Amino acid sequence: MSLLPPGSRQPALLQTMRMRDPVHYFASLRRRYGPVFRMKLIGFPPQVVVSTAELATEIYSTDGDGNRAGALRAGYVPWLGDYSLFTNDGEPWWRHRKLLSPALHGRSIASYPDLIAEIAAEDIRTWPLGRPFALQEHMQAITLEITLRLVFGIRDVTQLARLRALLLTLSKASGSPLLFLMPARLRAWAEKSPLAMRVPVLPTTRTMKASAAVDEILFAEIARRRDEEDSGATDVLGRLLKARDDQGRAMSDQEIRDELLTLLEAGLETTATGLSWAFERLMRSPEVLRRLQEELERGEDDSYLEAVVKEVLRLRPVITGSGRLLDKPLRLDGYEIPAGWVAIPMFSLIHQDSEAYPDPEEFRPERFLGEGAQAAQKSFLPFGGGRRYCVGAQLAMMEMKVIIREVLRRVELTAADPAPEAQRMWHVTLVPGKRAVAVARERPLDRAPLNEEPRCPVHPAPSE
Ligand code: HEM
Repeated sequence: MSLLPPGSRQPALLQTMRMRDPVHYFASLRRRYGPVFRMKLIGFPPQVVVSTAELATEIYSTDGDGNRAGALRAGYVPWLGDYSLFTNDGEPWWRHRKLLSPALHGRSIASYPDLIAEIAAEDIRTWPLGRPFALQEHMQAITLEITLRLVFGIRDVTQLARLRALLLTLSKASGSPLLFLMPARLRAWAEKSPLAMRVPVLPTTRTMKASAAVDEILFAEIARRRDEEDSGATDVLGRLLKARDDQGRAMSDQEIRDELLTLLEAGLETTATGLSWAFERLMRSPEVLRRLQEELERGEDDSYLEAVVKEVLRLRPVITGSGRLLDKPLRLDGYEIPAGWVAIPMFSLIHQDSEAYPDPEEFRPERFLGEGAQAAQKSFLPFGGGRRYCVGAQLAMMEMKVIIREVLRRVELTAADPAPEAQRMWHVTLVPGKRAVAVARERPLDRAPLNEEPRCPVHPAPSE
């Protein structure tokens, strides 16, 4: 007989409605029921939520034997395709994980910082000075450009412009509340039905049409790159074209297309949101900002910058939590969670655990330096855990560090309103409620020359 954890007795509809403000809702459930509690949301199997790193480790240690993560992300299949790392489980997932991981780690991305800094500088030049504007949109533009040039490796200016416009349309349509309110079956029908596709106001029509146009560009790009004699390109697409599985098989065009879109979907909003929170917090923490600027000017190492990025992702996790669908019953803190339930480590709660993080509400990057760093690191889960740990975490950390450095080098930022911005759910990320509104002022003294010719480290000129 299963022994279930305590949880809300409210009807599933009411519990689902509370998810508009998940951070406060989860915190209230944690206070009321303790570190393990159950929930019921409409359209999902019953869920058990945990709020300590130890319990999260127990859940993630069943990865590969006893749970599935991809099954919970099935809603992405129409957009990401059948082969996506994000939505698969078992052998197909493992094959792709091994093919993709090397392209996003260590030496493969070591040459990226220069181009990331150039892309950031190009965008910063367009920022209005002396009046409030939302940083989030600019962080999205920068991370999109990074994805197009460093992940997809697109060089053609016309194709870049077309993709940019299409992805903007897609991002707006796929964030439509109507899409989320559509029951899964109706949505699946609308995405395939020729009749529904003739109704332009439906968000499914807009997403599917833009998605078809994106595919056309991506397949053309994959074909062009396959025809190229060994280009020596170090972008992610170039590496995926060369990747081979254990049997020596290459990825098909469809597999590569699905993974490019997966990296776009999983990597763009998340990193842009992490960056927006970084500036939102820094603008309201003058001492941290001053120390960071001093350390950056000294230029010795980036340990304080790294600690700042970690502290941002701890205090304002972009993703609230990442769950697993249990194939087998799981014993958790004395409870017996049945197969078919979803077990979710909730990062927003784990990161507020006062044993791991004294004064958890405070923005204090020093936690990740010196003596306490190991303890802080143990409960730090913004990128998930186990075998499904975020495959883009290294790239995300690099992007955040390079972009923060570039912004602080070029402009001074102040908050338009000193009150902290609330955490709001947008799509699957927790974004700053006002999209990180800032006022920028030029830093004329140490401003880097803005009109130097960008040099691309990913696609070296033929003479180099
Ligand atoms: C601050 C930025 C980011 C955050 C907070 C973040 C967070 C996460 C989280 C929580 C997961 C789920 C892990 C789990 O279930 O245990 C995940 C998975 C994933 N992330 Fe990230 N991510 C970020 C950036 C990126 C980037 C830049 C990329 C790629 C370019 C990326 C690609 C992926 C992929 C493909 C998965 C699925 C991995 C799998 O299921 O095997 N992410 N990410």
